[in-house]
Formats: sequence, C-alpha cells, structure tokens
Amino acid sequence: MGRVRPTIDDIRSQLCALPKIDLHRHLEGSLRLHTLAEIAQEHDIDLPGRAIQDLRPLVTVSGEEPDFHRFLEKFKVLRRFYPTREAVERIAYEAVADAADDNVQYLELRFNPVALARAQGFPLEAVTRWVCRGAADARQDYNIRVNLIVQIGRDEALETARELVQVALAHRDEGVVGLDLAGDEEGFPAPPFQAVFRQARRDGLHLTVHAGEVGPPANVEEAIRNLEAERIGHGVRCVEDPRVVQLIRERKITLEVCPTSNVQTGAVHDFWRHPLPDLLSLGLRVSINTDDPSISDTTLTDEYWVAMSAMRITLKQIKRTIVTAAQASFQPREDQERLAAWFRRELELDDDERRPDNNG
Ligand code: ADE
Ligand code: ZN
Repeated sequence: MGRVRPTIDDIRSQLCALPKIDLHRHLEGSLRLHTLAEIAQEHDIDLPGRAIQDLRPLVTVSGEEPDFHRFLEKFKVLRRFYPTREAVERIAYEAVADAADDNVQYLELRFNPVALARAQGFPLEAVTRWVCRGAADARQDYNIRVNLIVQIGRDEALETARELVQVALAHRDEGVVGLDLAGDEEGFPAPPFQAVFRQARRDGLHLTVHAGEVGPPANVEEAIRNLEAERIGHGVRCVEDPRVVQLIRERKITLEVCPTSNVQTGAVHDFWRHPLPDLLSLGLRVSINTDDPSISDTTLTDEYWVAMSAMRITLKQIKRTIVTAAQASFQPREDQERLAAWFRRELELDDDERRPDNNG
C-alpha cells in the first residue's frame, strides 16, 4: 500500500500536541472575551454593548485593514477592563492557563503595569504583585514554567520607565526576569531609554525590545548596540539591511517573530510574503510566538500552522525554532541548556541539529 499523505487535520493535531515555548506574549493581548464581558457586566463599564459580539470588534482585529496604529488602539480600549485586584489576578491566571492548554511548557508573559494601573490609580508595584500572584497560581495548577517581563511603553516618561525598572527588580523573586520596550516604534524612538535599559542590564534584568517591526532596520541596530537588547521583538524588517542581519548573527540575538500580528499590523504584506523563511536561511536565531493571542484570535498552534502552510516551513524547522527559544529564554545558562535538552528529547531532534543556525 502507498503512503497516505497526512491531512490538514493530522498536521494540526501534530502541532497542537507539540510541547511549545512562547517568548513573546502580552498579558493585555491575552484576555478571554467572555471574561471581559463578565468584568464589564460586574463593574458596569460603559460600552456600546456588553455582549461578546459587541466587545469583539473593540478588542480583537476582525476583518479590518492591516494597520499598526489601529492594532495598538485595542490596548487603549482594554485599559478599561482592569477595575480591581481580583480582575488583574484573574486575567493573569487565565492567560497562563490558556497557554498551558495549547501545550506551552515554558512561557514568558510580558505585561504593562502602567496599562493595568492607570485607570484606577493603582500603584505600579501593586498591579505587578497581582500579576505575579495570578501567574503563580496558574503555574501551580497547570504545571507550566512561567517567567514575567515588565513592559515599558515607548511613550512613557523617563521617570516612569525608571520606576518600572525598580518595580521589576523588586519582583525578581516572584518571577520577573526582564524588561521589554514596546508600543509605537514610529512615533517614539528608543534612544531616551538607553541609559535606563543599560543600567537595568547591569542590575541583572534581561532585555528585549520591539524593533524593526514597522520601523527600519536601524531601529534593530539601535536596540542591540545602544540598549543592549538580547532579543528583538519581531525584527522582521532586518532583512532589508545585510549589515543589520550580520550584527544579529554575530551577537547571537534571537528574533521573536509573531506571524499573525505581523500581518495585522501591516509589518508584512501577507503570510506568503513573510520573511520567516529568509530569516532562517540567513542563519538567524528565530523563535515563533503569538504576541497577542486574543487580539489576533490566534494560538501558538495556529502560528506554527501558518508558518507551515503559507511559508513552507517544515515541521523540523518549527521544532528547531522551539529549541532556539529555549536557548534564548531569560534564565540562567544552565537552565537554558536544561530546557533546550528537554525539548530536544521531547521533539526527537538529533544532536547534530543543535546549532540554531542549522535551519535548513
Ligand atoms: N504591544 C503589544 N503588541 C505590540 C506590537 N505588535 N508592537 C508594539 N507594541 C505592542
Ligand atoms: Zn509584542
């Protein structure tokens, strides 16, 4: 009998069953719609409607033209849904639970304390503590490894950025391992944050920066050379400049690629023209992530699927990106290696496939 070709369902179930790593997932982009509806109801939040079908267009990308600023606008609407400590703990818990349901075994969840705190005037320290608590409860219940990253918005005052670094440092025992710079890369350049980021690195925090998403490759160079970023959020536009590609390779920087988000923000034109295959063949270290699963209505399984179906990425390449993610995780070297070895075993990757630049 001839070999039967796997169906789409077979491949999707295979991807669903893979143990995974997500290094780039925003808490505020991971909220369940029905939780939002409940919070809106319970706290009488003034909205055009409180049913799920009324909320969906406000907080998810649904059938609209790709646009970076419109994408970021969703986060502004979402700021109204963090009315109490219980709500913040709940959304952190559910974000981790949903990752675990997709068989994410190691998650780095980033969150923006200013977004969570501002509408109610909560202290930044308090909302951070609540996120740590919600994540810790889910970590226990779902047996998933989770580390947290404090996100600084590019539009924040330097004073706020400094305060956020102190808050992050104060919560290291509760799982905070790093800092992220996110938000509007076009309107708010990174240089003002240089000193804050470099000092945070000296103080022991890991660093990732959203750059080269909708902005030019020079932003990636800036993030690496001047902010000392160890990973780059997105970075897809680096392919436009061979010098920047070379810098990323030399410095062993890992790119956190998020395909669906890239299409919805207009960072790339469509899935078929996504530079993921080029990034791999250029020998760069690439991880595949969700960015904002609920805003984008995606899962990590979906992101792997789109990489395979539209970008001709093989299952083996997907597995290698997972090992690359383990090696780039914001953990001590021994833990990175232990995690990478665990994934290599689980994913049945051979030893000669260890090198992250061996992506063919
Ligand atoms: N915050 C959440 N998602 C983001 C993105 N794709 N780019 C910049 N900032 C973000
Ligand atoms: Zn992001």
